[in-house]
Amino acid sequence: MQTVLSATDIAFFENLLGNRQQVGDAIDSHYASDHTEDFVFYPAIVVKPETTEEVAAIMKYCYENNLIVTPSGARTGLSGGALADQGGVLLSLERMNKIINIDEKNHQVITEPGVVTEALQMAVKEKGLFYPPDPASKGSCFIGGNIAENSGGPKAVKYGVTKDWVLNLEVVLPNGEIMWTGANVIKNATGYNLTQLIIGSEGTLAVVTKIVLRLIPHPTHTLLLLVPFRKGEEACEAVGKIFMEGIIPSGLEYMDRDAIVFTLPFVDDAPDILKDDHDAHLLIELDGFNLDVMMQDCEKIMAIVEQFDIDEILFAETEAQKESLWRLRRKIGESVKSHSIYKEEDTVVPRYELPALLRKVKALAAEYGFTPVCYGHAGDGNLHVNIIKGNLSDQAWNEELPKAIRELFTEVVRLGGTISGEHGIGLVQKEYMDIAFGAAQLDLMRAIKNTFDPKGLLNPGKVLPSKGN
Ligand code: LAC
Ligand code: ZN
Repeated sequence: MQTVLSATDIAFFENLLGNRQQVGDAIDSHYASDHTEDFVFYPAIVVKPETTEEVAAIMKYCYENNLIVTPSGARTGLSGGALADQGGVLLSLERMNKIINIDEKNHQVITEPGVVTEALQMAVKEKGLFYPPDPASKGSCFIGGNIAENSGGPKAVKYGVTKDWVLNLEVVLPNGEIMWTGANVIKNATGYNLTQLIIGSEGTLAVVTKIVLRLIPHPTHTLLLLVPFRKGEEACEAVGKIFMEGIIPSGLEYMDRDAIVFTLPFVDDAPDILKDDHDAHLLIELDGFNLDVMMQDCEKIMAIVEQFDIDEILFAETEAQKESLWRLRRKIGESVKSHSIYKEEDTVVPRYELPALLRKVKALAAEYGFTPVCYGHAGDGNLHVNIIKGNLSDQAWNEELPKAIRELFTEVVRLGGTISGEHGIGLVQKEYMDIAFGAAQLDLMRAIKNTFDPKGLLNPGKVLPSKGN
């Protein structure tokens, strides 16, 4: 396995790509990081292909010459999946950024992987169509990265995650072979589902070069409520009750008091929402085509939350107010990160277990002395637990905290959940994989990896823990 390049290797890439590559000291620093903690890892070379054929040529060359390849999108990932931590070739898909065809008749779009997710959403919206998955980083992440991580976001509660919208993928295998994984159809009972195997595989099985997504008509209306709770645990209890009433919101987000405290300074037009006695907020969105029906659901939701100890509900009056509330919510991760060294856990449980999960986080925080900032997709049972280093000693951070995380993940799995809902495993969570899976499952995953990538050259050292764990 080669992590550094010879002069012959560099000449090959220069010949293939001209100036669409950067070597050694010429590599821009942004290629060395994603949004995971404060990692910096430089590859030996960055290559920027523009076509599937160029990707195939790169992969074939690397395969024949035993070069490590790390596929990379916009590097907004939160588990380090696109980091070239072992050097080698960073394969950036940024130049493959064209929407190939919006097929209005079939409600489908074919796109290259380097298109920004929000740009794709806007392009299909112009035709009255909707691609719902909306990770917090939608304004900068790539659709290809969303496929790699099986990204979620607030709308997952009603519309599902990335995997629920992908019909077919063109991929390049580690040996350079090009293939399609499925067909451009909604129903497909033809053989093993290679499409779904690739989704969420974090760039460890193949490089995605074209994507076929299904679309639906774009809802015409949204309603947005912000509900302040005096006890965070009650906010979590209210979540389950809303669904029990038969309502499926298009967003149901939880925000700890501290999440809002950290984020308010970063949002210019944030409304004045935080009172001294607020412990947590729920941000609840409904969407649809019939405003009368939506208002009825809204009243039902209000009646449910009013059974708890809440302050006055804010009903967003204007599109601008809705947007500023969503901006506040989307900026939490970034704002917490800018405050202190932190770790971000992406716990997920069946939604009725959310209060139990929050209780466990608080108990562990008290026991280990860390500050947790919890927020996330309460309707999915997906709670992001940001752990702030603050005044913790390096010893507590490096040696004690992993024990707390292990305890947290063990409880999550006991509650019927798992250790990542939408951020993936990548580099930072792989040594916890044994909590979610036993040896049989991990060996099966290793065998799948080996079938796709027998030389172990594509994004090595990600997702799967070292043997023995
Ligand atoms: C969010 C990202 C961190 O929900 O997943 O803000
Ligand atoms: Zn999230």
